[in-house]
Amino acid sequence: FPSFDYRNGRLYGESVQLDRIAREFGTPCYVYSRAALVAAYREFDTAFGGHDHLVCYAVKANSNLAILNLFARLGSGFDIVSGGELQRVLKAGGDPQKIVFSGVGKQPSEMRAALAAGIFCFNVESEAELAVLNQVAGELNKIAPVSLRVNPDVDAKTHPYISTGLKENKFGVPFDEAEKLYASAQEFANLRISGLDCHIGSQLTKLGPFVEACGKILDLLTRLETQGLTIDHLDLGGGLGIRYSGENPPAVQDYVTALCAAIGRRNQRILIEPGRALVGNAGVLLTRVEYLKHTPHRDFAIVDAAMNDLMRPALYDAYHEILPVIANSGGDKIYQVVGPVCETGDFLGHDRKLTLAQGNLLAIMSAGAYGMSMSSNYNTRPRAAEVMVDGDRIHLIRQRESLEQLIAGEKILP
Ligand code: LLP
Repeated sequence: FPSFDYRNGRLYGESVQLDRIAREFGTPCYVYSRAALVAAYREFDTAFGGHDHLVCYAVKANSNLAILNLFARLGSGFDIVSGGELQRVLKAGGDPQKIVFSGVGKQPSEMRAALAAGIFCFNVESEAELAVLNQVAGELNKIAPVSLRVNPDVDAKTHPYISTGLKENKFGVPFDEAEKLYASAQEFANLRISGLDCHIGSQLTKLGPFVEACGKILDLLTRLETQGLTIDHLDLGGGLGIRYSGENPPAVQDYVTALCAAIGRRNQRILIEPGRALVGNAGVLLTRVEYLKHTPHRDFAIVDAAMNDLMRPALYDAYHEILPVIANSGGDKIYQVVGPVCETGDFLGHDRKLTLAQGNLLAIMSAGAYGMSMSSNYNTRPRAAEVMVDGDRIHLIRQRESLEQLIAGEKILP
């Protein structure tokens, strides 16, 4: 894990001991490494060499303002899926001209806000959406730049919940209808065709599906150009996987090289929308062991983080490495690491070999992506604090939620 490592038996985030963060900010607490975020962004950005490109960070993976601002300072673009994410990016100093807007259910009010901000492109996902966008743009006297998100019907070979490029998924327009829809898009007075888009899924660990999708997109591009359409950019989506434990995802450079090779001599600008690969391994979730409970069948470590803080294990049966913050010789028992929430699905790890005592700190690794951003208040649990380490400095980038904030919008009947 870049930037999270043991030194003299203690787990550090950059030059900061994680037990110190737990003491100062409490647990559960997300900890991110600035160096890891910057390195991940630069790796994508430089991998394109001379090819005109824009890395659009997928905000949904982690939308903390400090993280968005960090990427904005590095020149990143952003992939958003809601008006809320748009506001975050603008607030964090992101350049509107580098924003793409994805999602199957954009509302007119969200379209208006994005048009007013002057975003780079709308990734349109249906014929009905084309008509609504045209109307909204007309009302504002604007021309909306559009790509059609095409569903290339490629098997991403990932978890079914996060596979998006199969014809039975709700995403994109059917591949075989794309030409017809581009033709009708041309007829709308307030739309300007700008690009061609696809995204086939998340946590992909092989290059094959990316290359296959790219091939199909290029065939389509050729046909569109034959019909006289001009496509300025190709948006190839996100989806590059990371290593949680045993996976061996392609290196960023190999991924980008494969995309560029598939595109060959075409000179369209390439956009990609990585989320997880930029932030996933740049964050951990710190938690404390509340109780150990030994039953005749199982040994449970009940920790103070739960499925509401990190939903991935409960939702996808996802595996996250769990490491002791103070190293020990390790592994005297097989633990079920579980949270305090009242659901059997509330676990963070099954069958983990650990040596534990009450009060010990654990780090749930690879929690930078789809951790905090998918958190909830289930069981009236305030959201965790978020901290960024930067060398030997510690910055609180989101306060722990208070109970007052949590119930602020609620009202008792008169
Ligand atoms: N672009 C689009 C249109 C997307 O739908 C997504 C992710 C991305 C880019 C970024 O994908 P990434 O590079 O992060 O794989 N909650 C799930 C992942 C859901 C991904 C949804 N779409 C998880 O925790 O694994």
